[in-house]
Amino acid sequence: MIVLGIESTAHTFGIGIFDSEKNKILSNVKHMFKPPLGIGMLPREASEHHYKICDKILKEALNEARIKPQDIDLISFAQGPGLGACLRIGASVARFLSLELKKPLVGVNHCIAHLEVAKITTPAKDPIMLYVSGGNTQIIAFDEGKYRVFGETQDIPVGNLFDVFARNAGLPMPGGPVIEKLALKGRKYLSLPYAVKGMDVSFSGILTSATKMLQKEKLNDICFSLQETAFSMLVEVSERAMAHCNKKELVLAGGVAANKRLREMCKIMCKERGAKFFVPEFQYCCDNGAMIAVLGAIEYDAGVETKIKESKIKTKWRTNEVEVKWV
Ligand code: ATP
Ligand code: FE2
Repeated sequence: MIVLGIESTAHTFGIGIFDSEKNKILSNVKHMFKPPLGIGMLPREASEHHYKICDKILKEALNEARIKPQDIDLISFAQGPGLGACLRIGASVARFLSLELKKPLVGVNHCIAHLEVAKITTPAKDPIMLYVSGGNTQIIAFDEGKYRVFGETQDIPVGNLFDVFARNAGLPMPGGPVIEKLALKGRKYLSLPYAVKGMDVSFSGILTSATKMLQKEKLNDICFSLQETAFSMLVEVSERAMAHCNKKELVLAGGVAANKRLREMCKIMCKERGAKFFVPEFQYCCDNGAMIAVLGAIEYDAGVETKIKESKIKTKWRTNEVEVKWV
């Protein structure tokens, strides 16, 4: 089965094509909306970007996969969670293609798609996933019939912590990669609020304290301390989730998965408890259409289909609300 997957939950519009018989991703094309410097992303502007670019991305994805529209067997799209204005573009393109090509439609959950693509592109079989991006910070795994959220941020996502701190410090966007570079030159650990509450984490206190430090401490040291504190918190709750579910694999997903220090800390933790650690190729860590195609194929195989009248977007669709028929 050839599946075309559409991602448009936030700033990325992506289309991926997956061949489920060969278990192979044939193409994964995406383009990211970049707001003007110093301004946050306005959903309406991001959705305009998606609207303008969708046909170009579609053509490229088909070309790269060397297929024609008629070869597609199934259309899959990210139905939620995400920004309404952005989700609506992907859903509209998906409905149009489904009607035009007379092929079935499946609406999938974006967060679970991150986990399923990790299982296709790495040796992981039943992992705990640490999903860290600008819009999400969650620890997810399949347990007792459902994908469950074992821990998450109580306020801002970790990528957002980096981006807002960078903006406060006058650094360019996105903040994560710049902070990673500066942190390498940091020598002194400055104490920041380490906020793990049960299985959840909180980053807003770190943001306030680190921003205050800008007046008297060296930027390199603040960046170093910011990373060490935030990542220690994330690795602590990931380890606790692994112990609780007795899982032996950890995968990283989301844009923050690019960070070498976070990878190193995860690797050390996994090694110490005899577990395996995997990071998918970076194009599959970030938001992408291939992961939507992969989950669409899995769900359709298990008998899931979304009729047009049920294809309304779900902006607040929680991971644990998804009815899992395919595991
Ligand atoms: P989602 O919709 O899944 O929440 P997103 O819209 O935030 O995703 P991503 O590309 O997955 O998009 O993640 C972007 C985030 O990743 C930004 O906050 C950015 O600062 C962060 N990031 C990127 N590279 C690094 C890095 N090397 N170190 C730390 N953070 C990074
Ligand atoms: Fe994502």
